[in-house]
Amino acid sequence: MEIGKITGLKGTITIPGDKSISHRSIMLGAIAKGTTNVHHFLTGADCLATIQCFRAMGIEIEENKDNILVHGKGLHGLRKPNDVLNVGNSGTTTRLISGILAGQNFDSKLSGDNSLNSRPMRRIMEPLQMMGANISSVLRNDCAPLYISKGELHGISYTSKVASAQVKSAIILAGLYADGPTSVTEPALSRNHTELMLWEFGADIRSKFKLDSTRATVSVAPCKELFGQDITIPGDISSAAYFIAAGLITPDSEILIQNVGVNPTRAGILQVCADMGADITLLNERTSGGEPVADILVRTSQLHGVTIGGPIIPTLIDEIPVIAVMAALAEGETIIQDAAELKVKETNRIETVVDNLKNMGCDITAADDGMIIRGGNRLHGANIHTLLDHRIAMAFTIAGLNADGITNILDSKCVDVSYPAFYDTFELLL
Ligand code: S3P
Repeated sequence: MEIGKITGLKGTITIPGDKSISHRSIMLGAIAKGTTNVHHFLTGADCLATIQCFRAMGIEIEENKDNILVHGKGLHGLRKPNDVLNVGNSGTTTRLISGILAGQNFDSKLSGDNSLNSRPMRRIMEPLQMMGANISSVLRNDCAPLYISKGELHGISYTSKVASAQVKSAIILAGLYADGPTSVTEPALSRNHTELMLWEFGADIRSKFKLDSTRATVSVAPCKELFGQDITIPGDISSAAYFIAAGLITPDSEILIQNVGVNPTRAGILQVCADMGADITLLNERTSGGEPVADILVRTSQLHGVTIGGPIIPTLIDEIPVIAVMAALAEGETIIQDAAELKVKETNRIETVVDNLKNMGCDITAADDGMIIRGGNRLHGANIHTLLDHRIAMAFTIAGLNADGITNILDSKCVDVSYPAFYDTFELLL
């Protein structure tokens, strides 16, 4: 995909459903009793992988034009899949489904693409094994393919070294099948969609946290039954982030982004933009299905550098590539720290962001847990090596709109993972 320099992005757009919440709606729907009716589901490749996995375990899932119907079979209604479960590129599918599979009476195997099969799985294997699960790495390298067989699950109190919603959710989901209460403490609060949705489905789940604290604990009781729900999924703030950034850094722009999920465990980008001097207004703030939602009005702003680190990092971890692009065009220095988790995403995002921004003329240095960006240089077009990472493709599209010459996003089709209509949405703003 070739991107040229542009000014004046104007219009009103709606963002596809939240990826994290979409995954969870299928998973909880599948193990609940009755039908779960999901509106505004994200039909990106990752969430479709989750649908395929549950279909392979005997769950009927109807994909209609306006909704998805998941005909749940209860906590013990899944059946043994005939084949390896294909999780594609999706870390969320892999880690969350492992928690569910650990509680089943059948054995299963799951595997994904090259990127997925090189991501760390020790972080879920260790706590699940402590609970009594039989989960192992087939190649003994602590990565997928994973093999999971029947085990007796016990409740544990687990302290996680990383603030990861995928780790937390895997343990919570296994905890539904355990013989006693399970709790997870993490070093900062990660996204809490599993907790909010499980509560709606009838689970006994409780959280203790302060948003900016270095300790957050969630506890779940063993569960007898979950109950299917009606879910309306808000727009994904991680997808909205590209248009927030585009509106702020592209001259003469004004964009209204409707129906965006602004759960505080996800909305760190809004705080960072405010700290950078952004002109952003939240309109029509409301709650939908237990999740806070708002429309976001963004106008071109003169941004300045900031330091980003500490407990805010988990609330904006997927937005760091596009935040780095904004920082490259802001005045002064931006320091991103405490973000070593970037190294184990779909790509090593410290490397992919730094290498590509450097190629565009940015003064940027990689650090072990983030990067330092000395903003204000003009960017020039370059070949962007996405390494098939959807967030790199989208973040550098925004960079390309504000760079001299042509920016060529290689393998731009990888946006399908989380935002198949990304380039179509852009057309609406031209
Ligand atoms: C996700 C959690 C985050 C995030 C990922 C989606 C989720 O990962 O980066 O894109 O849906 O739980 P970690 O939990 O590994 O930080």
